[in-house]
Amino acid sequence: MAEKAIPFSKEKLEQIIDKFPTPFHIYDEKAIIDYAQKFTKAFSWNSGFKEFYAIKAAPNPFLMKILRNQGFGIDCSSMAELVLAEKMGMRGEEIMFTSNDTPAYEFKKARELGAIINLDDISHIEFLEEHAGLPELLSFRYNPGNLKEGNLIIGHPEEAKYGFTREQMFEGYKTLLDKGVKRFGIHTMVASNELDPTYFAETAEILFSLIADLSKELGIHIEFANLGGGIGIPYKPEEKPVDLQVMSAGIREMYEKYIIKNGLEPLKVYFESGRAITGPYGYLVSKVEHIKDTYKKFAGLDACMVNLMRPALYGSYHHITVIGKEGQSLDTMYDVTGSLCENNDKFAIDRKLPELQRGDIIIIHDTGAHGHAMGFNYNSKLRSAELLLHGNGEVTEICRAETMDDLFATLDFSSLGSFSV
Ligand SMILES: Cc1ncc(COP(=O)(O)O)c(C=O)c1O
Repeated sequence: MAEKAIPFSKEKLEQIIDKFPTPFHIYDEKAIIDYAQKFTKAFSWNSGFKEFYAIKAAPNPFLMKILRNQGFGIDCSSMAELVLAEKMGMRGEEIMFTSNDTPAYEFKKARELGAIINLDDISHIEFLEEHAGLPELLSFRYNPGNLKEGNLIIGHPEEAKYGFTREQMFEGYKTLLDKGVKRFGIHTMVASNELDPTYFAETAEILFSLIADLSKELGIHIEFANLGGGIGIPYKPEEKPVDLQVMSAGIREMYEKYIIKNGLEPLKVYFESGRAITGPYGYLVSKVEHIKDTYKKFAGLDACMVNLMRPALYGSYHHITVIGKEGQSLDTMYDVTGSLCENNDKFAIDRKLPELQRGDIIIIHDTGAHGHAMGFNYNSKLRSAELLLHGNGEVTEICRAETMDDLFATLDFSSLGSFSV
């Protein structure tokens, strides 16, 4: 089987482990910057192009600072993500707020920061007005229903809880006009981990043709079209990354067909991609703790599902490299497990690997998005550290590992004595 590249040698990784014990996630700064630049360049034909990094994918301010330096905005979906943006000094239209089932306090915070608010439901127009007032600029999330198929992660659009129907889009913008809102955006997100570049041209066609219909019927000018996230990454070694040139050319064709031909320029193309931006450039580094041989062979790691939930949640494939054993034949079949009292706490099932020993260093690939971020504390497990590998080989700890004090911080043990039972 083809191997996947790693940005460090065994010796380098051992030096890192000497300082920062496993498990940890480590991100490759240079690779993130290179991809961010490639992404922006692919859309240079659109003068207003902007990527708002979906911070839910890796809510770390150091990673966000790197991306902001590349001209990226931030896509927030919760109060804490808005506060993270605020703490970084981010304000106004470099923040996109795409939430759902949104509480009033989140809308208030988004308004306070001057974020672009992207409403998930027609009833939220009134709710926003009542609790935070209507801003000058508003965007709606479109759910195209049966026009798109969806997939396992995102679900089928008709079943999905997100967005407005087509009829509601017309009614919604009409309401905004009546209420004096002056600037408009539009959004959709109907893909997740999609590797086919033509899929995004289809999404653009759905959105751009709707813009043409809305403009014709309501006489409004839509300023931006946010095509969401969902750009896939090659988790499996035989898969290919999305060809950004092909994707961009397909979107441009639709732009010419629906936007330029109808005189609807300028329209800024936005994305709120997470996975594609940092996913392939993060690695979960762990050690083999135990080898167990019963009805199957199990390699038990010092990491578990709290460090990376995707395999257990979606049955997702994450490639595994045993560093230092890259050349060896993959002749032993393992379930690669964590230590949770959950039988689905497995990073891989029936994976052929070189024969493993206790202490082997395991690299789990493509954990740079929706990896550490999805962490949790079941079984009172602690979340790991996050490290950043710089282009010059230096390493910075960008998030320390949780301690037991962090875990117990919400409990008041001192009041146990006076708690009568
Ligand atoms: C509204 C929204 N935008 C953007 C993203 C980022 O998606 P991805 O990381 O697949 O690009 C998500 C993912 O859950 C999302 O729900």
